[in-house]
Formats: sequence, C-alpha cells, structure tokens
Amino acid sequence: MKHTVYWIEGDGIGPEIWKVTRPVLDAAMQAATDGEEELEWVELLAGEKATRLTGSPLPQETLDTLKTASVAIKGPLGTPVGGGMRSLNVAMRQAFDLYACIRPVSWFEGISTPVKHPENVNMVIFRENTEDVYAGIEYQAGSAEAEKLAAFLRSEFGAKIREASAIGIKPMSAFCSKRLVRRAIRYALDHHLPSVTLVHKGNIMKFTEGGFRAWGYEVAREEFGDVTIPEKEATPENSKGKIIIKDRIADAMFQEALLRPEQYSVLALPNLNGDYISDALAAQVGGLGMAPGVNMSDTLALFEATHGTAPTAAGKDIANPGSLLLSGALMLEHLGFAAAADKVRQAILKAIADKTVTPDLAAEMPGAQAVSCSKFGEILLENIR
Ligand code: NAI
Repeated sequence: MKHTVYWIEGDGIGPEIWKVTRPVLDAAMQAATDGEEELEWVELLAGEKATRLTGSPLPQETLDTLKTASVAIKGPLGTPVGGGMRSLNVAMRQAFDLYACIRPVSWFEGISTPVKHPENVNMVIFRENTEDVYAGIEYQAGSAEAEKLAAFLRSEFGAKIREASAIGIKPMSAFCSKRLVRRAIRYALDHHLPSVTLVHKGNIMKFTEGGFRAWGYEVAREEFGDVTIPEKEATPENSKGKIIIKDRIADAMFQEALLRPEQYSVLALPNLNGDYISDALAAQVGGLGMAPGVNMSDTLALFEATHGTAPTAAGKDIANPGSLLLSGALMLEHLGFAAAADKVRQAILKAIADKTVTPDLAAEMPGAQAVSCSKFGEILLENIR
C-alpha cells in the first residue's frame, strides 16, 4: 500500500538534508513492513526553488494541494530579517491554520550537551502558532498606519506611545488558546504523561498572556475535569492517575528547564514564548540539528526541521540531517508506522554510539569522527539494513 507524502525541499541546506532523509525513511519503511507499505513522495514547490521555477515563492498550486492534504514534510525556508518578504513559514501556518506546533525534546545518548543531566529533559512543546505578536499585524515606525493607530490609542484610551514608534499588535483569543491547550492535554492523556504546564507572562501582560493561562485552566476544568487537577489543589491522594495542570511564568520556566527539567513533561505556550523555549530546550539536548517538529491543523500535519536554512553551511555537505530525519520519524509514527520510526531513531543512536556524526555534533564529542551529511546518510542506511 502507498501513502502519499507531500514534500518541500527547502532553501539553504534543504536539498542536502533531503538527499539523506528520503532514502532513510524509505529504507525504514521497507525494513519495518517487509516492503508492504511504501511512501509515495510528491514534491511541492516553495521558497527559492519555487521562485526560480515559477516566479512565486509560494505558488498557488502548492497552496491548493496543501489545502486538501493530510501529511506533508518540509525543509527550512529562508526569510529576510527586518524587511522584504514575509516569512513563508508564518504564511503557511496561517493559510492552513496550522495552530499547534508540536516539538518533542529528548536527549540522544552520546550527544554532548551544555548541561550535566540532559537525560532529564523529556518534554513535548505545544506552541500556539497563529496568534500573538506573530499574527503579522505590525506597522513600521513613521508609517501612516502606525501614526494613525498611535493617534487613535492616545486619543481614545490615553495610551502613552512615543512619537515615531513602530507598533505591533498582540491578539490572543480564548478560541485559539483553548484549542492548543486541549490538544496538549489530549496528547498527555494519549501518551500517559504526568503533567501539562501552561507557560505565560500573565504577570505583566495580564489580558493576553494572563488570558492564555486562565483559558488553559478553563479548558482543563471544563473538558477534562475528571482526568486533570490543578497543581495547587493536588495532593498525593487526589491526583493519582490524573494529569497535573501547572502554570509557570515564562522567565521562571527557562530557569526551571535548566534546574528541574524532570518536573515537566508537556508544555503549552503562546507563540513567542514557544518559539524561544523550543530553541533553548533543543540546545539543552544537543542543538537544533537534532530537534524535530510538526505543525498541525485539524486536518493537515506539516512536519518540518526545526532549524533554519543554515546559510553558512549550505552547499558544503556538512549539515546535520538529524532534525529532518527525526521529523520524518514523527511523521512515520503519525502515519501509524511506529516500528519504522523506531528504526530511524535506532539507526541514528547507533551512528552516535559509533561516534560517526556530522561536524556540528563531532565538534562537541571527544573522539568522534566527523563525516559529511551524505556519508552520515550512508551510515544510517547500513544501520537500518
Ligand atoms: P539557522 O537555524 O539556519 O542557523 C542557526 C545556527 O545553527 C547556524 O550556526 C547554523 O549553521 C546552525 N545549524 C542550523 N541547522 C543546522 C544543521 N542542520 N546542521 C548543522 N548546523 C545547523 O537559523 P538562522 O541563521 O537564524 O536562520 C537562517 C534562515 O533560516 C533565515 O532566513 C530564517 O528566517 C530561516 N529559518 C527558517 C526556519 C524554518 O523554515 N522552519 C526556522 C528558523 C529559521
């Protein structure tokens, strides 16, 4: 049986990490299902390749196909900083309402990390993907829009806004906060995880971030009241078998993640906090090169490498394909092929144990042999076969 997977190559190191990832995922499927189940790869264009071939960075055909697709996987797409084109990633998240960015973070034994006990980091990040300061409602300093908005806020609400300020808007709704937290709690239930922590800056931004916290507790109480309990009410007796709902202020959470990571399992966060903590936790377990992720709507799962296009590494065959490979493993799991996903992870673990890894990992691993991206792929194929 064939399972259609749409794929986007991506920019920068995208083509190199794809050259490794696709054969490894195919080999894992072959090995796990004796060739009975296969992935059918259908390429979609986006980014520089799309611009080159069609004149548009996000062609209508790609948008139309993804509208009805259920599974896709993408390499990183470049975005100019501080101007120019809007982020294609953000555009896609909004176009398909990919409201939950889910990133499991755990350590691969043998990977060198900046912390003493990376094995204690076992968290799954649920980041809200459509709202917050990333909603794209932002006006340049001195623009007519910024001036008009500032004048309105000053005259109507007495807001103090310095002259010639750039202005961004931070919308956060009960609807979007609740559907994200709902998904995080369901995940914790399905995977028998002990807690869901709402991470927010509600002490400062009382109505947006504070709203996220309040709506999170509300959805837990109203929809999962029999299987969850707020941390403040939990005792050893009344919390047995229940998911503990915690909340932490975002800055404190960064400290907790370093000092007491074992006390956290599922994290639910608004967009910006979620973006920050994703990279911080990835660093704790050895860096972005090994961090997988998926963006989900209610109908589409778009798996992606968590890192960017790594322009300085592009074209040198030195990139680490780990993040895309592990996102591919998540995708196999999502498609119902947990055994194939496990083959991918075991092959990576063996390569790490044998100390044959890409230069980013080798640099931190005493005695390791740095191998190219393509050689790493060959090693994984051998490990799977
Ligand atoms: P980046 O993730 O591309 O690079 C950060 C650092 O990590 C660099 O030193 C890079 O060489 C290294 N790195 C990243 N991935 C690696 C890998 N697989 N193997 C080895 N080293 C790796 O982030 P940066 O430089 O901030 O962004 C570059 C471009 O990527 C920008 O245009 C940005 O907008 C875009 N980007 C795209 C993302 C996506 O498509 N999901 C996510 C993040 C950034």
